[in-house]
Amino acid sequence: MTVPPLDRFLGLLRTAANDGSLVKLTLGKARAADPSLQNLFVRPVALKAGPQLTLVWRHATRDITKNFPPADGLALIEPLVGHDFLDAHLFTATQSAQLETQPDGSARLRVKVQNPRSTSATVPDGSASDHNHTKHYPIAPTAAWLRTLGVTNEHGQPRAEMTGKFRQIQKFAELLQHLVGETFPHQTALKVADMGCGKGYLTFAVAELLSESARIQGIETRPELVAACNRAAETHGLGTRLTFNAGTIADAELPALDVLIALHACDTATDDALARGLAAGAALLVVSPCCHKELRAQLTPPPVLASALRSGIFQERQAEFVTDALRAQLLEWAGYRTKVFEFISTEHTAKNLMISAQRIRPRGSPDDAIAAGIRDLAQFYGIRHHALATHLGFVLVR
Ligand SMILES: C[S@@+](CC[C@H](N)C(=O)[O-])C[C@H]1O[C@@H](n2cnc3c(N)ncnc32)[C@H](O)[C@@H]1O
Repeated sequence: MTVPPLDRFLGLLRTAANDGSLVKLTLGKARAADPSLQNLFVRPVALKAGPQLTLVWRHATRDITKNFPPADGLALIEPLVGHDFLDAHLFTATQSAQLETQPDGSARLRVKVQNPRSTSATVPDGSASDHNHTKHYPIAPTAAWLRTLGVTNEHGQPRAEMTGKFRQIQKFAELLQHLVGETFPHQTALKVADMGCGKGYLTFAVAELLSESARIQGIETRPELVAACNRAAETHGLGTRLTFNAGTIADAELPALDVLIALHACDTATDDALARGLAAGAALLVVSPCCHKELRAQLTPPPVLASALRSGIFQERQAEFVTDALRAQLLEWAGYRTKVFEFISTEHTAKNLMISAQRIRPRGSPDDAIAAGIRDLAQFYGIRHHALATHLGFVLVR
């Protein structure tokens, strides 16, 4: 007897949730009672309470996130597959399965053995605080390039002085995997630029996460770092899809892009990178700004804040906030949905704010209501110039 595609899909989902191989489940083509519901994203997460499933309901203007014990999560998800959501895409450590259901109930299931590069790994964690525990990492700590870049030792454990960097790489990889899955559910040959890539830790992580057909370019002003990164890429057989170029963000030669990354590019280099990503057509931008110098000198707080902002540290934090709030709003004005969040604990780095932007409107359709809000915010703080506004041709002061 032939097992119907839906039952086969649910069988694969149950097995993956129970044997720890589930990477993620994405449900799309919603036709739920609530018309604002777009997707349901499911991921495993290890909490103190034990393994859980994190469910994220994506609505047009907000996300709702809840954790459930795996059995409860599955009981909630299973009736939705093929009913409230016509498309279901399952990724496990070894395979991916895509179920497409038609409104008449007929369904097609495609199962593919997963490219081992894009799978995550469950391996012993060598950090003292997690002694005797296993952890689920998007990048296998045994990846040879992590050792070449000096992040891990010969046992595939983070070197003591690189523990923070190791965690940052893993957290970044987890976030990027999620954002790429959301933004490009079916596209694999992505073109990615990592601007101000430094020693290439995150650039290599991108190459490890994405399919072999992806092309990743790192851009960095310091030629000695570029040479070392290219050598490491060659050593690990990644040279055809991972290349590093010496030059500035503003002047780098770029192809049409899908994804733009710039983590900790200094001051307005973040704005240069965002503008280049936008101009190159990137549908996903991921930046983590640092050294917010540009607005500090312009900050002229309204009288009610003048006394509070006499303190240098408050001025600095206020300048950071206004710089990044304007960045996020300018991106929204230009047609992106943005998320602003702390991507790693401040215990590991103070530079932990991340802005992600996913294109939701075509280019050339700026939003006037957002424009008014941007000008109000700039005026409130006396800001007349912002590098990203200049790049985008947005007039801050009328
Ligand atoms: C703090 S490091 C961050 C490296 C990497 N993105 C990371 O997070 O691991 C910033 C890097 O950006 C480079 N950089 C700064 N401004 C740049 C620019 N305008 N063009 C290219 N690279 C730049 C610096 O040389 C430095 O290596």
